[in-house]
Amino acid sequence: MLDKNKEPFLLFDEWFSLAKKKELNDPNAMNLATISEDNKPHSRMVLLKDHSADGFIFYTNTESNKGIQISQNNNVALCFHWKSLQRQIRIEGSVKKVDDSTADSYFNSRGYMSRIGALSSKQSSILKSRSELEALIEDFKKKYPDENNVPRPKYWTGFLVTPIKIEFWQDMPHRIHDRLVFEKLDNSKWKSQKLFP
Ligand SMILES: Cc1cc2nc3c(=O)[nH]c(=O)nc-3n(C[C@H](O)[C@H](O)[C@H](O)COP(=O)(O)O)c2cc1C
Repeated sequence: MLDKNKEPFLLFDEWFSLAKKKELNDPNAMNLATISEDNKPHSRMVLLKDHSADGFIFYTNTESNKGIQISQNNNVALCFHWKSLQRQIRIEGSVKKVDDSTADSYFNSRGYMSRIGALSSKQSSILKSRSELEALIEDFKKKYPDENNVPRPKYWTGFLVTPIKIEFWQDMPHRIHDRLVFEKLDNSKWKSQKLFP
């Protein structure tokens, strides 16, 4: 059973390490939910690229739908589901951009074509034909032929989700599951409670 006295980031690390061993692919895939200006929820998958006691980092295009939604409302939710473990982690919190040096260092660690792809994609805008994207890719390859010198576009960066709530869910026999929720108190300590499944 889940231990109420455990530190939530430690528990996250334990589960994530296990998921990295057991999941078929993308153990770092998580659902990101945002809210648009008209108060509608939107969700899609992104990849967790770093995490610490400060929070959870993903990278994206600030001009995409999610980027615009985050700029209008910085309350977000994340959800991991690892089928191989029959476990779920839900995170709620606020999001802010990482600093430029963090974003540069991750961008520069990506493969050449991934960096060219980030430059070429007007993420979430209407694409009239695949050839439009292919032409942009060719243009950027010509512009930046040196693999060691592809600049990070100003509209591509990382976002840090600072959690205020983290819930761990473990599948149990007969669907009588085990749920443990941590909520951040004003004094920055975590309060943990079990929930009915
Ligand atoms: C497993 C998986 C991982 C993904 N990871 C990312 C990611 O890290 N960053 C990203 O911008 N899009 C990622 N995507 C694509 C997004 O789900 C989404 O299609 C895209 O970001 C546009 O979303 P938006 O129009 O809501 O902004 C991923 C998709 C899948 C299926």
